[in-house]
Amino acid sequence: FRLIRNGSASRSRDIGRGYSSGAVPERKVAVLGAAGGIGQPLALLMKLNPLVSRLALYDIAGTPGVAADVSHINTRSEVAGYMGEEQLGQALEGSDVVIIPAGVPRKPGMTRDDLFNINAGIVKSLCTAIAKYCPHALVNMISNPVNSTVPIAAEVFKKAGTYDEKKLFGVTTLDVVRAKTFYAGKAKVPVGEVNVPVVGGHAGITILPLFSQATPKANLPDEDINALTKRTQDGGTEVVEAKAGKGSATLSMAYAGALFADACLKGLNGVPDVVECSFVQSNITELPFFASKVKLGKNGVEEVLGLGSLSDFEKRGLENLLPKLKASIEKGIKFANQI
Ligand code: NAD
Ligand code: LMR
Repeated sequence: FRLIRNGSASRSRDIGRGYSSGAVPERKVAVLGAAGGIGQPLALLMKLNPLVSRLALYDIAGTPGVAADVSHINTRSEVAGYMGEEQLGQALEGSDVVIIPAGVPRKPGMTRDDLFNINAGIVKSLCTAIAKYCPHALVNMISNPVNSTVPIAAEVFKKAGTYDEKKLFGVTTLDVVRAKTFYAGKAKVPVGEVNVPVVGGHAGITILPLFSQATPKANLPDEDINALTKRTQDGGTEVVEAKAGKGSATLSMAYAGALFADACLKGLNGVPDVVECSFVQSNITELPFFASKVKLGKNGVEEVLGLGSLSDFEKRGLENLLPKLKASIEKGIKFANQI
């Protein structure tokens, strides 16, 4: 562990709470798409994270302003903005975690798969650069359709010879955040105490919240579980429709993305028992990628945890989602392998 630069002893102790050595390692986080609807609040939240020592904000436009703004906040990390492809290498070099919210969002009436044509190319080129400039970084993929962009990233890394399945994550944390919020409201339990795993993928019925495992237990009737499941699956669409053409979830996504990146950093730093749901390479089902609870460690994924016991409703949900998720995964793989 290197001690933080320019840190007074007391500040270092404060940041280091929960760390056995009291010292927090230096960690560089890069956000690609940092001037966007998600990118800006995510940049803010990562600037507030004491585990980050360097924050690189990259976009094709607008990053000097975002970086200058965020850099005035008196927290640990040094902020730098990078704009345009010629600065992408510099933005990535030395990164421990790369968060990717680059790409177009949905408008009402669109599915996430409708974003494939534009976002697949963006993700492919960004991942090509990651393979070159920071092949060991943990990659947090936010760009949709996650069910396809994660397989695209894996193929790009395989071709470059840098693929490490422990280091590639589709960010599905927003599904968990939604499931917790909606469950707490229905079950009338304190939202801060709620845990709900969400498995599968990140689109429509591929999002499978496991309310049978939700805590605190509430014994909700079937109709409530059905409604909660549907609302979690349609959470993204609910926001897209409410924004009426002005994009999709940005603020709640920035929160969820910051939460997941924080978990990755904690894992890298050796904090024990860090578990979050994420869409990762997996043996849990017959599909090569699947979201489930994942234990995070010093090398990224330490263990992909099993599904636990499912209700009959959830078993049916799992059966129904597999063909859809399979097709999205295959679409991504096929795209990445086109000449
Ligand atoms: P946005 O349009 O507001 O911002 C996207 C940003 O990406 C823009 O600033 C744009 O300039 C930038 N960009 C485009 N091409 C780029 C490139 N080649 N390199 C770097 N940056 C590039 O969109 P948004 O609302 O921030 O959403 C971004 C993506 O995140 C969308 O695909 C959306 O569907 C997805 N999303 C995912 C989740 C999730 O749960 N995983 C949740 C919400 C949104
Ligand atoms: C979400 O779940 O909010 C995102 O995937 C964005 C979308 O298009 O719904």
